[in-house]
Amino acid sequence: MNRRILTGGALALTAGLALAGCSETSAGKADKAAAKPELKVAGAFMPAPAMDTMASGFFTVTNKGGADKLTSVTSGIAKKVTLHSTEGNAMKEQKSFDVPANGELDFARGGNHLMFEELEQKPKEGDKVAVTLHFEKSDPIEVEVPVKAATYNPKPGKHASH
Ligand code: CU
Repeated sequence: MNRRILTGGALALTAGLALAGCSETSAGKADKAAAKPELKVAGAFMPAPAMDTMASGFFTVTNKGGADKLTSVTSGIAKKVTLHSTEGNAMKEQKSFDVPANGELDFARGGNHLMFEELEQKPKEGDKVAVTLHFEKSDPIEVEVPVKAATYNPKPGKHASH
Protein backbone atom coordinates (compact mmCIF):
# COMPACT_ATOMS: atom_id res chain seq x y z
CA MET A 1 0.00 0.00 0.00
CA ASN A 2 2.66 2.48 1.03
CA ARG A 3 4.75 1.45 -1.90
CA ARG A 4 1.95 2.13 -4.36
CA ILE A 5 1.39 5.59 -3.00
CA LEU A 6 5.07 6.39 -3.28
CA THR A 7 5.24 5.19 -6.86
CA GLY A 8 2.18 7.20 -7.76
CA GLY A 9 3.73 10.29 -6.23
CA ALA A 10 6.97 9.83 -8.12
CA LEU A 11 5.09 9.45 -11.38
CA ALA A 12 3.07 12.59 -10.77
CA LEU A 13 6.25 14.48 -9.99
CA THR A 14 7.92 13.34 -13.19
CA ALA A 15 4.88 14.28 -15.23
CA GLY A 16 4.86 17.70 -13.60
CA LEU A 17 8.50 18.29 -14.48
CA ALA A 18 7.94 17.21 -18.08
CA LEU A 19 5.01 19.58 -18.36
CA ALA A 20 6.98 22.49 -16.98
CA GLY A 21 9.73 21.80 -19.49
CA CYS A 22 7.18 21.71 -22.30
CA SER A 23 5.44 24.94 -21.50
CA GLU A 24 8.78 26.71 -21.23
CA THR A 25 9.80 25.59 -24.69
CA SER A 26 6.50 26.56 -26.24
CA ALA A 27 6.68 30.01 -24.71
CA GLY A 28 8.08 31.27 -27.99
CA LYS A 29 10.97 33.34 -26.69
CA ALA A 30 12.48 30.21 -25.20
CA ASP A 31 15.46 30.37 -27.53
CA LYS A 32 16.37 33.84 -26.41
CA ALA A 33 15.63 33.29 -22.75
CA ALA A 34 17.66 30.11 -22.66
CA ALA A 35 20.60 31.62 -24.55
CA LYS A 36 23.76 31.88 -22.53
CA PRO A 37 24.58 35.39 -21.43
CA GLU A 38 27.83 36.76 -22.89
CA LEU A 39 28.92 39.49 -20.57
CA LYS A 40 31.70 42.02 -20.84
CA VAL A 41 32.57 44.73 -18.36
CA ALA A 42 34.01 48.02 -19.59
CA GLY A 43 34.67 51.56 -18.45
CA ALA A 44 35.00 50.74 -14.76
CA PHE A 45 36.19 53.50 -12.46
CA MET A 46 36.06 54.64 -8.87
CA PRO A 47 36.22 58.36 -8.08
CA ALA A 48 38.80 58.93 -5.33
CA PRO A 49 36.58 59.01 -2.25
CA ALA A 50 36.38 62.11 -0.07
CA MET A 51 35.47 60.08 2.97
CA ASP A 52 37.42 57.37 4.77
CA THR A 53 34.39 55.18 5.10
CA MET A 54 32.71 55.09 1.73
CA ALA A 55 33.46 55.04 -1.99
CA SER A 56 31.42 54.63 -5.14
CA GLY A 57 32.05 52.70 -8.33
CA PHE A 58 30.81 52.69 -11.90
CA PHE A 59 31.03 50.44 -14.97
CA THR A 60 29.04 49.13 -17.89
CA VAL A 61 28.11 45.50 -18.49
CA THR A 62 27.35 44.67 -22.10
CA ASN A 63 25.57 41.46 -22.99
CA LYS A 64 25.60 39.74 -26.37
CA GLY A 65 23.58 36.77 -25.16
CA GLY A 66 20.59 35.90 -23.02
CA ALA A 67 19.37 37.84 -20.01
CA ASP A 68 21.28 37.71 -16.74
CA LYS A 69 21.27 39.50 -13.42
CA LEU A 70 23.96 41.23 -11.39
CA THR A 71 23.26 39.81 -7.95
CA SER A 72 26.12 41.03 -5.79
CA VAL A 73 29.53 42.66 -5.77
CA THR A 74 32.47 41.94 -3.52
CA SER A 75 35.82 43.62 -2.96
CA GLY A 76 38.73 43.21 -0.60
CA ILE A 77 38.76 46.92 0.21
CA ALA A 78 35.27 47.07 1.69
CA LYS A 79 33.33 45.02 4.18
CA LYS A 80 30.20 45.59 2.20
CA VAL A 81 29.40 46.59 -1.39
CA THR A 82 25.82 47.55 -2.10
CA LEU A 83 23.97 48.19 -5.35
CA HIS A 84 22.20 51.52 -5.66
CA SER A 85 19.97 53.15 -8.21
CA THR A 86 19.14 56.84 -8.20
CA GLU A 87 15.60 58.09 -8.47
CA GLY A 88 15.39 61.85 -8.60
CA ASN A 89 17.88 62.89 -5.95
CA ALA A 90 17.41 59.83 -3.79
CA MET A 91 19.53 56.70 -3.79
CA LYS A 92 17.78 53.42 -3.45
CA GLU A 93 19.41 50.14 -2.53
CA GLN A 94 18.67 47.32 -4.98
CA LYS A 95 18.98 43.58 -4.45
CA SER A 96 19.99 43.00 -8.05
CA PHE A 97 20.16 44.65 -11.45
CA ASP A 98 18.92 43.10 -14.69
CA VAL A 99 21.40 42.67 -17.50
CA PRO A 100 19.00 42.51 -20.45
CA ALA A 101 19.50 40.09 -23.33
CA ASN A 102 21.52 41.76 -26.08
CA GLY A 103 21.60 44.92 -24.04
CA GLU A 104 23.58 46.64 -21.35
CA LEU A 105 23.51 47.52 -17.71
CA ASP A 106 24.96 50.97 -17.20
CA PHE A 107 26.40 52.41 -14.03
CA ALA A 108 27.11 56.13 -14.22
CA ARG A 109 27.26 59.22 -12.08
CA GLY A 110 23.78 60.29 -11.16
CA GLY A 111 22.44 56.84 -11.95
CA ASN A 112 23.19 53.31 -10.86
CA HIS A 113 26.30 52.96 -8.73
CA LEU A 114 28.12 50.71 -6.34
CA MET A 115 28.65 51.81 -2.77
CA PHE A 116 31.73 50.46 -1.06
CA GLU A 117 30.92 50.66 2.63
CA GLU A 118 33.08 50.24 5.73
CA LEU A 119 36.31 50.64 3.76
CA GLU A 120 39.27 48.63 4.98
CA GLN A 121 41.55 51.09 3.22
CA LYS A 122 40.96 54.40 1.50
CA PRO A 123 41.71 54.19 -2.23
CA LYS A 124 43.78 56.99 -3.77
CA GLU A 125 43.86 58.27 -7.33
CA GLY A 126 46.06 55.93 -9.38
CA ASP A 127 45.24 52.86 -7.28
CA LYS A 128 43.55 49.83 -8.73
CA VAL A 129 40.80 48.14 -6.77
CA ALA A 130 39.98 44.49 -7.35
CA VAL A 131 36.25 44.00 -7.57
CA THR A 132 34.28 40.85 -8.32
CA LEU A 133 30.88 41.00 -9.95
CA HIS A 134 28.57 38.08 -9.26
CA PHE A 135 25.79 37.12 -11.62
CA GLU A 136 22.79 34.85 -11.49
CA LYS A 137 23.90 32.75 -14.47
CA SER A 138 27.34 33.82 -15.61
CA ASP A 139 30.54 33.05 -13.76
CA PRO A 140 31.82 35.86 -11.56
CA ILE A 141 33.79 38.55 -13.41
CA GLU A 142 36.84 40.12 -11.79
CA VAL A 143 37.45 43.74 -12.63
CA GLU A 144 40.47 45.92 -11.86
CA VAL A 145 38.81 49.22 -11.15
CA PRO A 146 41.11 52.23 -11.60
CA VAL A 147 40.74 55.00 -9.05
CA LYS A 148 40.29 58.34 -10.80
CA ALA A 149 40.12 61.95 -9.67
CA ALA A 150 37.22 62.70 -7.39
CA THR A 151 35.44 64.66 -10.11
CA TYR A 152 36.16 62.25 -12.99
CA ASN A 153 33.15 61.69 -15.23
CA PRO A 154 33.54 60.01 -18.60
CA LYS A 155 29.94 60.70 -19.61
CA PRO A 156 29.21 64.31 -18.66
CA GLY A 157 25.79 65.52 -19.64
CA LYS A 158 24.31 62.08 -19.87
CA HIS A 159 23.58 62.04 -16.17
CA ALA A 160 23.47 64.69 -13.51
CA SER A 161 26.33 64.47 -11.02
CA HIS A 162 25.87 62.31 -7.97
CU1 CU B 1 24.47 55.32 -3.23
